[in-house]
Amino acid sequence: MKIAIIYKSKSGYTKNYATWLSEILGAEVYQGSKVKAENLKDYDTLIFGGGLYASGINGIKTIKKFISLYPDKNIVVFATGASPGRNDEIDSVIKRNFTEQEQKAIRFFYLRGGFDYSKCTPIDKVMMRMLELILKHKSNPTPDERGMLNAYTTPMDFTKRENVKELVDYVQSF
Ligand SMILES: Cc1cc2nc3c(=O)[nH]c(=O)nc-3n(C[C@H](O)[C@H](O)[C@H](O)COP(=O)(O)O)c2cc1C
Repeated sequence: MKIAIIYKSKSGYTKNYATWLSEILGAEVYQGSKVKAENLKDYDTLIFGGGLYASGINGIKTIKKFISLYPDKNIVVFATGASPGRNDEIDSVIKRNFTEQEQKAIRFFYLRGGFDYSKCTPIDKVMMRMLELILKHKSNPTPDERGMLNAYTTPMDFTKRENVKELVDYVQSF
C-alpha cells in the first residue's frame, strides 16, 4: 500500500507527527503548500495534517480539494492543537471544517500539539494576545484556560510518538 502524508506546520508540532507517521508507515511526506494533484495520483492512502487556528485546520482548502478529486482513495485527516482534545471540542472541529458529505469520505484524528508564543507569526501573535486578554479577565477560568495562560510564558509540547498509535492501527487495517 502506497501512503503519502501531506502536512502544513507553522511551529513544528504537526511536522513532528508527520515525521513519526512517515517513519512508522514508510510513507512519503509532502509539504501541503507544495503538493500537486499529479504528485498524489499513485497513492492508495492520503494522510493530511495541519494545526488548528481558531478551530480551522491549517491547509483545509487543499484537503477539501483532494477529498473531491480522489473519492476512491483512503483519506485520513489529523489536526494538532493546544487544547486537550475533549470529545465535544473534536466534534465541533469536525463540523466546522467538513460538510456532512466530506465527513463520510474521511477519518479524522486529533493529536495534541502544543503552543509556543515565540514561534507564532506576527498576525498570530496579535490574535493570541487578544485571547490572552479575554482569558485574563475571566472571573472563573477553567483548568484548561489556566493552562493556556501559563503557556504564554512556558511553551508546552504534548507531541509524543505514541500518540499516533490509533491512527497507525487504522491505516494498517486497510
Ligand atoms: C492564532 C492561533 C490560534 C489557535 N487556535 C487554536 C484552536 O482553536 N484550538 C487549539 O486546540 N489550538 C489552537 N492553537 C494552537 C495550535 O493549534 C497548536 O500550536 C498547533 O499544534 C500548531 O501546529 P503547527 O505548529 O504544526 O502549525 C492556536 C494557535 C494560534 C497561534
